[in-house]
Amino acid sequence: MFGLGTKNIGIDLGTANTLVYIDGKGIVLREPSVVAKNTKSGEIVAVGTEARDMIGRTPGSIVAIRPMKDGVIADYDTTAAMMKYFMEKTQGAAGKPYVMVCVPSGVTEVEKRAVIDATRVAGARDAYVIEEPFAAAIGAGLPVMDPTGSMVVDIGGGTTDVATISLGGIVSSRSIRMAGDKIDEAVIFYIRQHFNLLIGERTAEDVKIQIASASVEKAKEIESITVRGRDLISGLPKTIEVTAVDVAKAIQEVVQEVIGAIKETLEETSPEIAADVIDHGIVLTGGGALLKHLPEVIADATKVPVFIAQNPLDCVAIGTGESLKNIDVMKKR
Ligand SMILES: Nc1ncnc2c1ncn2[C@@H]1O[C@H](COP(=O)(O)OP(=O)(O)OP(=O)(O)O)[C@@H](O)[C@H]1O
Ligand SMILES: [Mg+2]
Repeated sequence: MFGLGTKNIGIDLGTANTLVYIDGKGIVLREPSVVAKNTKSGEIVAVGTEARDMIGRTPGSIVAIRPMKDGVIADYDTTAAMMKYFMEKTQGAAGKPYVMVCVPSGVTEVEKRAVIDATRVAGARDAYVIEEPFAAAIGAGLPVMDPTGSMVVDIGGGTTDVATISLGGIVSSRSIRMAGDKIDEAVIFYIRQHFNLLIGERTAEDVKIQIASASVEKAKEIESITVRGRDLISGLPKTIEVTAVDVAKAIQEVVQEVIGAIKETLEETSPEIAADVIDHGIVLTGGGALLKHLPEVIADATKVPVFIAQNPLDCVAIGTGESLKNIDVMKKR
């Protein structure tokens, strides 16, 4: 069904990052899902990494937009423009590609339709969607087609997708809008409440990546860091010191929601799949999998071994791209 000479591509259209996978080449693009626009003319000023560096630093005439929110399209036109830019950047002059894009497992038909339409507008010959946890499992190298249960937990920027998979299909799943962005928000909220200091989302993400831990207990081993922002009372720049224990406490709610979703999904599975999951463990993918001490905390709560996939940020893109090889099978699912 694919035209000769036309490249097939897989796109991981994420809330935080967009990755493009080209059949035969692997991942050819990894960029933040951010677009900078001129507020007056509507003209796009920058896309991807360049636009991300502008977040929180734009003059009045420019806005840096994250067009995806909670795993779905929040700003349709900007998403389509961003995809078009990324597709052109990676495709060159090759003909229109068939494109597979991932969507979180809980999305509505309308949300799915929006992704397909935006991908066509962006220049796809045709577009198909795959559920993100299924793609994550393929990309993590799990035996998704075998008659054995696997469990994957993909923690991205917008959503945490939990799924058990067997025989090429999702057996049980949960998708919650609790992931990296919510952790960043919790850090911002905590620092505002306790220090009267306003920090930007980029700073909050830095704090998370450097010192956030899923375990309050183990956070004691992590050193404090200094954080800069604007004092809410004086209005002036200020530097404070935050401890990893405080950050760990601040993000506990999000961590507990993720654990709750994993437990609920496990409770729904058949005894056979539960047994398989005990044997093979739970595999974590997505950027959120890199949160310090997360595997230990999940293993503790579920009594199941937990592993981080190799290159967790790339799994969904790899799986989305690989699934293009079975596109006829995917279409029937
Ligand atoms: N070392 C780290 N520790 C904690 N979080 C991290 C780390 N590295 C990246 N992240 C977070 O991972 C998230 C991005 O992950 P990923 O690229 O998988 O998300 P996404 O696919 O864009 O989002 P979604 O799948 O929800 O649409 C961001 O919130 C980022 O801050
Ligand atoms: Mg993702």
